[in-house]
Amino acid sequence: MVFKLEKVVPWGRSFADYRKMFNLSDRDLELKILDCGGGPASFNAEMAKMGNRVISCDPLYNFEKTAIADRINDTYPSIIKGLKTNFDLFVWQEIQTPEDLGKLRLSAMKLFLADFEKGREQNRYLNQELPNLPFDSNQFDLALCSHLLFTYSEQFSYDFHLLSIREMCRVAKEVRIFPLVDNFTGTPSPHLAPLQQALKLDGYQATITTVDYEFQKGGNQMLVINKAN
Ligand SMILES: C[S@@+](CC[C@H](N)C(=O)[O-])C[C@H]1O[C@@H](n2cnc3c(N)ncnc32)[C@H](O)[C@@H]1O
Repeated sequence: MVFKLEKVVPWGRSFADYRKMFNLSDRDLELKILDCGGGPASFNAEMAKMGNRVISCDPLYNFEKTAIADRINDTYPSIIKGLKTNFDLFVWQEIQTPEDLGKLRLSAMKLFLADFEKGREQNRYLNQELPNLPFDSNQFDLALCSHLLFTYSEQFSYDFHLLSIREMCRVAKEVRIFPLVDNFTGTPSPHLAPLQQALKLDGYQATITTVDYEFQKGGNQMLVINKAN
């Protein structure tokens, strides 16, 4: 499948967001981490500054910094408009308005853009995509996936989800996916329950865990997948 930049709506979260979404402890931050569908999030950039190492995979990284920056600027107004139209689907407490949210996301994406070229040289940003990853088995301690699987349940089939999760489980000892609800609707992904069953048959434990992060109403849970003992 050809990945087209004009189809991407680049939107990236920060280290602080990742920490809460995935319940990352101080010890977790020292693990070898893979971020699948890292997009323009600043998690990798901020972790690198702290001396921790994350590898992020995303077909977005095939494009040049200026093209990604242009795409962010082009799509930004429509995202703010979408948030205003769907205002009631979000929790407006810490962040009170769509404009405030926009500023936060833009500042994270600026950190990403400032780090992107250096990080690409250091092989921290790889143009790779699910469901096939070019890594050895158990190369990572932890694989994270934020706002890709389950979020786009309509666009990505059940089979794509299963293959992607199996691949993340192959390359990492533990997988965490957040959130578990569909984009905008806030309803649980229809893929979730059958995936939990399939993963159990594969010999994995897939546990739903509530986290201290909820911006999309109902989106305050992650799926943690480990090899069953
Ligand atoms: C909504 S963004 C989330 C970015 C980041 N994880 C965050 O939460 O801020 C979803 C990302 O998934 C990427 N993506 C789409 N298809 C993918 C695939 N097959 N494998 C990996 N990433 C993919 C998109 O390019 C986009 O950057």
